[in-house]
Amino acid sequence: MIRIVKKTLDNSNTIFFEELNETYHSLNGALDESLHVYIRKGFNEAIKIKNTIHVFEVGFGTGLNTILTLIEAHKKNIYCTYHSIEAFPLEENLIAQLNYKSFFNAKYHQAFEKIHQTKWNECTKISDTFYLNKIHSSLESHQSTLTFDLIYFDAFAPDKQPELWTEAIFKKMFELLNENGILVTYSAKGEVRRTMQRVGFTVERTGGPKGKREMLQAKKILSITL
Ligand SMILES: C[S@@+](CC[C@H](N)C(=O)[O-])C[C@H]1O[C@@H](n2cnc3c(N)ncnc32)[C@H](O)[C@@H]1O
Repeated sequence: MIRIVKKTLDNSNTIFFEELNETYHSLNGALDESLHVYIRKGFNEAIKIKNTIHVFEVGFGTGLNTILTLIEAHKKNIYCTYHSIEAFPLEENLIAQLNYKSFFNAKYHQAFEKIHQTKWNECTKISDTFYLNKIHSSLESHQSTLTFDLIYFDAFAPDKQPELWTEAIFKKMFELLNENGILVTYSAKGEVRRTMQRVGFTVERTGGPKGKREMLQAKKILSITL
């Protein structure tokens, strides 16, 4: 598996995965994309109705979404549990090359390290209000009895990894969500939107991060029958 660190346009790093010819984030800005898609359009939307949030992430990768969520949760005084699934964890030498800490206040540097050092498949306290469980598994084989308020669907692009953008996977995501739960993804593909709708999501196209007109925000709204 050949993976190398690459700089994106906002100077934050991403990982380039040679076999798929795919990067972990947008080359227009890794930090910008994560902040926009997952924090602004996901986390900040979910906390409008709850102050305890259970997050499930597809693709732990560099841990960027994780640390950004911890920082936002601290700022907004939100209690958060964060479950992140990853089939192919990054090697330590790649993690060591990531430059994310230079973008955060020093008080979060230790948390970033802890996020990476913590053991897989164990729920670990990262701070008094943020608990992390990194799940070392493929999404396809993962079974959960837990449910969540928010899903960050951050798999590789649908044309690179079609097996993760299927009706069966989105049905699984729908079942993982609590009522009024939200799923966000950077993809705005029509086929993805229609697949989500088929399994029951109410889907909205909303403004995307830099370099992308749109992204998708899907909600689990159960209809009321009187
Ligand atoms: C687009 S990157 C996610 C970036 C990540 N959210 C971050 O903040 O760095 C996609 C991630 O999904 C992981 N992945 C690929 N196939 C997977 C699968 N079948 N199940 C779980 N994770 C998978 C990859 O190894 C990669 O880390």
